[in-house]
Amino acid sequence: MKPLIKFFFLTIFFLLFLSCNQQHSEENYRIGFSQAMTTDNWRREMNKSMQLEASLHPEIVLEIKDAENSVAQQVKQIEGFIKDDVDVLIVSPIQSNPITTVIEKAMDAGIPTIVIDRKIDGSNFTAYIGANNVEVGRNAAKYIISHSGEPAEIIEITGQEGSSPAHERSEGFRKAINQIPNLTISHIIKGDWEKASIKEELSKLLDSTEIPKYIFAHNDRMALGAWEVVKEKSLEDDIHIIGVDGLFGPNGGIQLVKDRILSATVLYPTGGMEAIKLAEELMSHESIEKNNILKTVIIDSVNVGIMKNQFDKMNQQQNDIEHQQEVIDKQINTYNSQSKLIQLMIFLLVLLLILSVWSIYLVVKLRKHKRNLESSNTEIRAQRNKIEEFAEKLKLSNESKINFFTALSHEFKTPLTLITSSIDSIAERPSKESQEISYETNLIINNSKRLLRLINELLDFRKIENGSFDLRVTKTKIVPFLKNIVDNFKSEALKKSIELKFSYKSENLELYLDREMMDKVFFNILSNAFKFTPKNGKVHITIEEKEEKIEILFKDSGIGIPKEEFQSIFDPYMQASNNTRPSSGIGLYITRQFVELHKGNISVSSNQGAEFKISLLKGNVHLKEYVISEVQKGMDTSYERNRVENLVPEEIDGNKNLRENAESVLIIEDNLELSFLLQKKLSSEYKVYVSDGVDGVEKALEVIPDVMICDINLPDKDGFQICRELKNDLRTSHIPTIILTALSDKESRLKALKAGADTYITKPFNNQILMESIKSALFNREKLRYYYTNRIDKVNGENFAGAEQFFLKELNALIDANLKNSGFTVEDLACSLEISRVQLYRKVKALLGVSVNEYINSLRLKKAKNLLQNSKLNISEIAYEVGYSSPGYFSTSFKKEYGISPKELKTS
Ligand code: FRU
Repeated sequence: MKPLIKFFFLTIFFLLFLSCNQQHSEENYRIGFSQAMTTDNWRREMNKSMQLEASLHPEIVLEIKDAENSVAQQVKQIEGFIKDDVDVLIVSPIQSNPITTVIEKAMDAGIPTIVIDRKIDGSNFTAYIGANNVEVGRNAAKYIISHSGEPAEIIEITGQEGSSPAHERSEGFRKAINQIPNLTISHIIKGDWEKASIKEELSKLLDSTEIPKYIFAHNDRMALGAWEVVKEKSLEDDIHIIGVDGLFGPNGGIQLVKDRILSATVLYPTGGMEAIKLAEELMSHESIEKNNILKTVIIDSVNVGIMKNQFDKMNQQQNDIEHQQEVIDKQINTYNSQSKLIQLMIFLLVLLLILSVWSIYLVVKLRKHKRNLESSNTEIRAQRNKIEEFAEKLKLSNESKINFFTALSHEFKTPLTLITSSIDSIAERPSKESQEISYETNLIINNSKRLLRLINELLDFRKIENGSFDLRVTKTKIVPFLKNIVDNFKSEALKKSIELKFSYKSENLELYLDREMMDKVFFNILSNAFKFTPKNGKVHITIEEKEEKIEILFKDSGIGIPKEEFQSIFDPYMQASNNTRPSSGIGLYITRQFVELHKGNISVSSNQGAEFKISLLKGNVHLKEYVISEVQKGMDTSYERNRVENLVPEEIDGNKNLRENAESVLIIEDNLELSFLLQKKLSSEYKVYVSDGVDGVEKALEVIPDVMICDINLPDKDGFQICRELKNDLRTSHIPTIILTALSDKESRLKALKAGADTYITKPFNNQILMESIKSALFNREKLRYYYTNRIDKVNGENFAGAEQFFLKELNALIDANLKNSGFTVEDLACSLEISRVQLYRKVKALLGVSVNEYINSLRLKKAKNLLQNSKLNISEIAYEVGYSSPGYFSTSFKKEYGISPKELKTS
């Protein structure tokens, strides 16, 4: 854009320069003219002829300055022209000597100088133009000589002293007159070119001397003055007056001759036109004459007519020229304005062109810019997408890692809980029987083994991540090898009544295996199968021989794996979405890595349970790069197969010494060891019920416990869901619920509270805290019960929380509607509330602390009391009104409740 702007301004400057330049060429030559004065017509005529000539040359600018007959002013004006550096200077000096110096100065400044009419001293000027004044004087004398036949006297009236014409005219005149003996110049009157300067002197002279026959005045103006004096004295017929100048026009010399005022006049041309022509030649560097003498002639009665005609014609021509000049000037003006208009139009056109080019350039540039922007946009978008993708991956990976570590730590927490709880227990009760202590010691050992297994898995995982596993394969008979592992699960199978089957066709099948790795692989798969297979389920292991490989299948009848997770189940940190049991999810990852190190393959399918298939190639060609040891190698001593079975006794002995009204606690926990430990601890004070989570809700509805302890990570429904369901059920909504979980994050706490949990305890927990929490839950329930029973009439108000208020409202309404009905039973009430009789009993007992019958009875007696005080019914009528079939039984019950018989109340 910058070069274009430059171009734009350059064009403007160029156009301005062009127009200025044109103007300058019209002002090419400047002529400065210093005129002596402009008081007389002769001088005005000189100026006019100069202007006329200059106007014919448009390149000439003529500036005329009037010195007003002042020598000092004329010097100053000439200096001004020198300073302005005019191209040509023209001077008509007032006097010769005083002007000489300044003209020399102009010449020194290099300005060509033309002297006109009057001369200066010396010859330091470029050119002189004017008539020959000696000849002018001589011509005047010649006229007198030719007309005077007899002796005659002449008076001479001269021009201003010091001016060259006055001096030269006298010289020419006198020389010629003095040659004629009978002609005498009797008197000389010194004038200053104007008539006023001579009239008085002439008048006196005419009065005092002899009348002259001729008067010669150096110009027509003084000649006219002389005639006026002569006329005054009526001497006009006697005296002949001759003047100089011969101007055309009124009062001009020609007219004066024609009017016979003057006898003759000598033509003295102004030379104005010729001076401009000379200047022009000078400016065109043409060579010119230094002295340019103009023609002079005598005009008298003989030729005055012709002369006048000629001057008329000349004047006419001059007027025509002036008129034409005016027309030309007008045309020039029109031309100038039109050419300016054209220039302006050209300028605008050029501007338009530049602007068009500019806009095209801008459009092209904008398009280019837009294209660049679009491409950088696409690039940015692509980069952003990449970043987003990367961020998403990072997020997923971070989430997975966090999940992994959380899950792992949770897995650590339960065994830890067991260990710490057991240790607490041992410390608290050192005098307990040795059997109990040994159970808890075994629990510590068992769970320590679990921790060890977890740590081993973690170490394997790290090794895989670092790629630092070395495969050391040995030829192995797969059937006995696998059988040995399967045997580890026999006792668990027996306990859970699981059908454990191991099928194979040949016992001699051999594979090259890293025994330690493959032991872990098979053990892990079987552990999983047993973990997810319920009681009375099946676990089948089959070995099948194919052409190049051996396939080992593990099929269970557990919960199975969703189809879309067949691949991801082997990824680290992943576990099947239907598996709510705590797990780090690295077991299967390690399994796959180990199988793949053997160039084998592991896959899973699911159809009524899960089926894992491990394919291993026969022979050792595929394993050549690894260390193949032919020597049968024992197991690595650092590795111990930790098949830790749950340490749960078949039967839990109930406490026979329990309080009569001991409250009941339901434990919903899938870790059987923890469940058993809790049961063991609580059974001394409470009636304890347990659920492994699968039947949590059903169990709660069945027993309607006083308190519930519930885990969150459970095999079927999670703890939140169980809690939510029970809290939303009228039958169980009143039961205080303690959540006991390994999840310690804020979100889980909030979720539990939202689900209706009353207390949240995280694992590993402190025994005492748990016991106190149960007590405090029961105490709070007791406080609420007290509140309900003491404000039974306000139950319909807004003071009670949701489900309980709703339940009591409905209960009261049903009892009230059936108050009169003596056959109305607890079964009827339970049926109307759509719950069982036992559930109703436990709910009312829990909320109000009384049995349902007692509650119905108290309402009946309350109504009876009201009727006794406010109605006219008799006691028997009141007894029937509140559902008593026997007035006697009514009176006994009433007295028992209020300590006063109905009769006494009625009469009081
Ligand atoms: C004009 C004039 C003329 C005369 C001339 C001489 O000013 O007086 O009449 O011829 O000057 O310079």
